[in-house]
Amino acid sequence: MKITKAVIPAAGLGTRMLPVSKSVPKEMLPIDAKPAMQYLVEEAAKSGITDILIVSALGKDAIERHFTACPQYEKKLIESGKQELYKSITDINKIANIYYTYQHEAGGLGQAIRMAKEFVKDEPFAVLYGDDVVISENPATGQLIKAYEKYGKSVAGVKSVPREIIGKYCSLKVENLEGNLYSVSDMIEKPKENEIFSNLAILGRVVLEPCIFDILDRTPGGIGGELQLTDAMAALSRESGMIAVEFEGTRYDMGNKLSYLCANVEVAVNNPEYGEEFRKYLKEFVKSL
Ligand code: UTP
Repeated sequence: MKITKAVIPAAGLGTRMLPVSKSVPKEMLPIDAKPAMQYLVEEAAKSGITDILIVSALGKDAIERHFTACPQYEKKLIESGKQELYKSITDINKIANIYYTYQHEAGGLGQAIRMAKEFVKDEPFAVLYGDDVVISENPATGQLIKAYEKYGKSVAGVKSVPREIIGKYCSLKVENLEGNLYSVSDMIEKPKENEIFSNLAILGRVVLEPCIFDILDRTPGGIGGELQLTDAMAALSRESGMIAVEFEGTRYDMGNKLSYLCANVEVAVNNPEYGEEFRKYLKEFVKSL
């Protein structure tokens, strides 16, 4: 079945990004003047997704505003002949069909995904974690969809992370199938040293079969009392197996202050308008470090 739906959970509190996340959703933090959420919606559309459900929360209305027409700006830009800027803001409203639902309490990523049941119905769907931006020529979600089309099983987007920090992620029990594809038979969220399966960790992208909703219904609260999506995916991988794709692209965690800064520097150096000037500035600046 062709995958045309995606869910973007964006209702978390973003405590690691305080104080900014008190008033600006971390999912709307900009990388080079474009908010993270726009990168995600563009990636989904490039991957063949036509319908996107954003799981939002109170105080995150900047997300909806960004994908809604803004006649005030449009009029001004037309009047001043700024065609390119006009196009850049009006194009945003046409990237995909976007729908919203609200998670009233941040009860975990698993609970956020549960809210997508009505939207997804009985179709497989992609999930793009709202604070994970992946910069890649070949859209990361599309890479996972390709693996789903080949194997017909739920897919996790993974990368190898250093062993010292795998305890912060979800470690996967895998066997290599071919190239960057693996079969997954188990996984564990935030493993202790003796529980680590491998250095492969899920980073921000999954494709799920709709059976995940039944599994979520019977999954108890996990770490921090929250309903963990990874606990449900662990059950799914033990019961019927999953696929992992070591995806191409650089992933930035907008919920992490250092990763957010790196994203801005690395993307801005390639900006066609001022990248060269910024590079010159950086070269001078590092001399002073
Ligand atoms: P995170 O676990 O990184 O987000 O979830 P968080 O809970 O906001 O982070 P901290 O620890 O407080 O800083 C990954 C994505 O899932 C969403 C988040 O908004 C983020 O985009 N999420 C998380 C939800 O939609 N609902 C939740 O209950 C939790």
